[in-house]
Amino acid sequence: MNILSPSILSADFSKLGEQIRILDQTGAEYIHIDVMDGLFVPSISFGFPIIQSIRPITDKFFDVHLMIKEPERYIDRFAEVGSDSLTIHVEACRSVKDTLLKIKEKGMKAGISLCPQTAIELIYPYLEYVDQVLVMTVNPGFGGQEYLDSCTQKITEVRKEINRRGLPVDVAVDGGVNLQNAEMILKAGANVIISGSSVFKGDIKENVAKFMDILEMN
Ligand code: DX5
Ligand code: ZN
Repeated sequence: MNILSPSILSADFSKLGEQIRILDQTGAEYIHIDVMDGLFVPSISFGFPIIQSIRPITDKFFDVHLMIKEPERYIDRFAEVGSDSLTIHVEACRSVKDTLLKIKEKGMKAGISLCPQTAIELIYPYLEYVDQVLVMTVNPGFGGQEYLDSCTQKITEVRKEINRRGLPVDVAVDGGVNLQNAEMILKAGANVIISGSSVFKGDIKENVAKFMDILEMN
C-alpha cells in the first residue's frame, strides 16, 4: 500500500498547529518530521518540544527522520514525546544495528536512511532490522531542492533486494518529490512518498488530494 508522508519542514511555523489540523483531515497517513542538529547536516530544524506540542493535535503516524549524529543518545526522549518511527542515517551511528534494535525495543518502528553519495549496498546488512528504508534524493539539510535523478537506481535496487529476501520493508523516498515525478518514483519501487514544499506550497488540502490520486493509481 502506498503512503504519503508530508514533511512539516516546509510548514509555516507561525501556524504549525493549524496546518497539522488540515493534514489530519486528509488521506496522508504519516507526518514526516525532520530533526537536524547542525552537525550531521549544516542546518538546525527543531526537536522534542515541537514534537511534543503537536502530538495531541493528531493521531497520524509520526515518521521522524533523524539527521543527527549519534542518534542513539536520544532514542528514549524521541519515544517519550510520541514518535511512532525513528529513521536514522547509516552514516551517523556508532553502531547501526544496536541503534535499530534499541528503537524497536522502545516500541517504535525503525528506519534506515542514506545520503545521495552513499552506496545502497551499505544498508543491506541492516534490512532485517528495519521497517523502512528511506532513500534520500537530495543532500539532506533543506527542503525545496531538486530531485537527483542519479538516485532513482537506488530505489529500484533496494526494492529488488527487499523482495528477494521476502522482507516486509517499506521504501520511502525523500527530497524533491513533486506531483510530476511521484509516479516515476513509485514505479521505481517506492511505496512511501515524502514531500515538503510540494505539499505546503499553495493549498495543502488540494496538494495532498492530488498526491493521493497518484498514490492510489499506482
Ligand atoms: C531534507 C528533508 C526532507 C525535506 C523534503 O533534508 O529530509 O524531508 O523536508 O523537502 P522537499 O520535499 O521540499 O524536497
Ligand atoms: Zn526527511
